[in-house]
Amino acid sequence: MKPLEIKKGIYWVGAIDWDLRNFHGYSTQLGSTYNAYLIIDKKITLVDTVKHYMFEEMLERVKKLIDPSKIDYVISNHTEMDHSGSIPEIMDIAKTAVIICSPNGEKGLKKHFKKDWKFKVVTTGDSINIGKRNLNFVLMQMVHWPDSMATYIPEEKLLLPNDAFGQHIASCERFDDEFGWDRVRIEAAKYYANIVLPFGAQVSKALEAVSGLDINMIAPSHGLIWRSHIKDIIGLYKKWADNECEKKAVIIYDTMWHSTEKMAYAIKDVFEGKDIPCEIRNLQASHISDVAASILEAKYICVGSPTLNNGMLPTVSAFLTYLKGLAPKNRVGIAFGSYGWGGQSIGDIENILEASKFELLIKGLKIQWVPDAAELEELKNKLKGLL
Ligand code: FEO
Repeated sequence: MKPLEIKKGIYWVGAIDWDLRNFHGYSTQLGSTYNAYLIIDKKITLVDTVKHYMFEEMLERVKKLIDPSKIDYVISNHTEMDHSGSIPEIMDIAKTAVIICSPNGEKGLKKHFKKDWKFKVVTTGDSINIGKRNLNFVLMQMVHWPDSMATYIPEEKLLLPNDAFGQHIASCERFDDEFGWDRVRIEAAKYYANIVLPFGAQVSKALEAVSGLDINMIAPSHGLIWRSHIKDIIGLYKKWADNECEKKAVIIYDTMWHSTEKMAYAIKDVFEGKDIPCEIRNLQASHISDVAASILEAKYICVGSPTLNNGMLPTVSAFLTYLKGLAPKNRVGIAFGSYGWGGQSIGDIENILEASKFELLIKGLKIQWVPDAAELEELKNKLKGLL
């Protein structure tokens, strides 16, 4: 349980959640970390904490550096309990500590923990001197909660943006270049798709707010710390915040007797015929949080379900509920499905895609019972002219 010095006098003292496989519905196959940072200066400052059940792990790391009762400031960059969950325990030990947070942070922490702690509320432009260093604050409202903020230390060129730029990865490595860009990028994209995607406009505002800062390290609250790929990850955040898509398709479906599946693969043939890369995601095999990662940069999103009980399959319905909340923009949609008699699922999917502001490429793409070769050919011909 060693702390790791990430800058002279600044230590990672977080916790590694190797076993985490579900983060409020997000499938975290690689686990995660809750990154807390201890700044040893005239005023000893702890930046964020860890989930409540990992408090002892954080405390052990802190104790290797200082007597935790000597902590002067606890910065809460974000109220969600994966970062605030150990504030009650640390405040029980550091009895004179002051919590530094945003205005919404104060309201949120009071509602969560019902404690009469001392608060110092800060907003964008505020700065607190802790000795050799200054802590500058930038509100990052709705990236991804109303209370979210970043702490910037100019003397260290260090940005501590909490959830922004995070990834759910449990690893021995702490830095992006140790873990490898290709692997970190995949998890950063999945994280953005599932946590940050609905807030593109607010991300753009936050990127603008930090664009003038001299940064050589970004230390988020989950996963690897960025020191080698800062420009790369900021570039990706700009692209994702703008909902910039690639000419790529994802076909998401569930099937009862493989008829809708046959249609899915026929649609895939059409995209491939047009040299448009196309992923297939059967909802029986793929978790919706992985599907979200697939659609992050895809222009075409096709959703298929047969009709069951006058509607769509529950897996598809759950996916569409999730998709509607993520609210990707600038997308083209296709609804499709097989049916026996009613065929309502296709219209229901179309309605949700339209309500989610998708441009529908075609309507009524349905085939009764089991598609034969001629019907699949007809379906392909209908689509070919539209792409
Ligand atoms: Fe990592 Fe929004 O909490």
